[in-house]
Amino acid sequence: MSKINFDIKNVRLDFSALNVMPIYFDNAATTLKPTPVCAACDRYNCKESTNIHRAVYHLSEQNTTYFERTRQKVKEFINASKIEEIIFTKGTTESINLVANSYGELLNEGDEIIISEMEHHANIVPWQILAKKKRITVKAVKMTPCGELDWDHYQTLFTPRTRLVSLTYISNVLGTINPIQQFIDFAHQKGALFLLDAAQAMAHLPIDVQNLDCDFLVFSAHKIFGPTGVGVLYGKEKLLDQMPPYQGGGSMIDSVDLEAGTTFNMLPHKFEAGTPHIEGVIAFYESLSYLSRYSWEDLEAHYELLGKRLAQALSISPKITVYGSPAHRIATIPFNIEGLHAHDVGTFLNESGIAVRTGHHCAQPLMKFFGTSAMVRASLSIYNRIEEIEKFEEALLKIINTFT
Ligand code: ALA
Repeated sequence: MSKINFDIKNVRLDFSALNVMPIYFDNAATTLKPTPVCAACDRYNCKESTNIHRAVYHLSEQNTTYFERTRQKVKEFINASKIEEIIFTKGTTESINLVANSYGELLNEGDEIIISEMEHHANIVPWQILAKKKRITVKAVKMTPCGELDWDHYQTLFTPRTRLVSLTYISNVLGTINPIQQFIDFAHQKGALFLLDAAQAMAHLPIDVQNLDCDFLVFSAHKIFGPTGVGVLYGKEKLLDQMPPYQGGGSMIDSVDLEAGTTFNMLPHKFEAGTPHIEGVIAFYESLSYLSRYSWEDLEAHYELLGKRLAQALSISPKITVYGSPAHRIATIPFNIEGLHAHDVGTFLNESGIAVRTGHHCAQPLMKFFGTSAMVRASLSIYNRIEEIEKFEEALLKIINTFT
């Protein structure tokens, strides 16, 4: 299909939630869902709900086909070499927990894992739990004051016991786009595997796992216009083959015998125990198709425009502190207003019809680095407009003039 021109008015018509939530600046938390995604969920739930992979009647087979069609679509979207490398999970968090629990079984006491100070809790806590269980060490790459990963510090963290590096591509709080290729290549030079957390990156950058050569890639459907409760773990086949199952149950087995024990199903089913989020996976196909309607060039130009105007809006008063000044950032910027708690700013913005996230953003080490316990975060997406940022700027001025 040829790419359509980027017309923001038409884009907005695809997202009916914008009728009830006019200025939605909380896209790093979750994106809104376009009509084809909503329709696919409704169709499954209201008319066609059956289980999959288990029966021979028409609707069950149809849903199995639709479910597996999404796997093929994900494979193409991230340019994986095989569908066996695409595992459906509940989301980024479960994907990382799967690797920590399963690949973690292959680690030995004294092995080391590298994460960073910039990570979401989902890319910290599973490794800390694993560290306790297996007596391994977790090291964290420091951040620079402008909110980038410290490349020099990164290189000092490796030892012959480093087995895995797990880093985010784009910070969920700062919007920093990390120059991830050099981090992946260096990990490989040192003989370590690389897990790339692409939760925030998927809607903003083209991802090609074969070019990046990451060993694992994790992301969630709901941050790329898909349903909540669906995520992906991409893993190189030879690694997934070596890894033990994460959860036991239906679908992940080959045979079960009370005396002889259990043998496991082939990839990808070995890692997909139980009935999955069927309508979510089926509708995820529609979200990937939706995103594919636009060229990355158009999207990146749109995001850049929004990012510049957002930064300008946040520079209108010395009472606003913006966190981080990375060289490359998406249109996601965290800030605080002098003398006001982030939650209060969020509440006042809500009164102007503007939705932002406030709090620690599931990144308490990053908050500690910047010496605060909470920030306000504006994160923009495909349907956001310059006019909305102008209203945001007006609302900020009103808050500052009224309350500080
Ligand atoms: N990880 C999501 C966020 O940053 C929920 O808001």
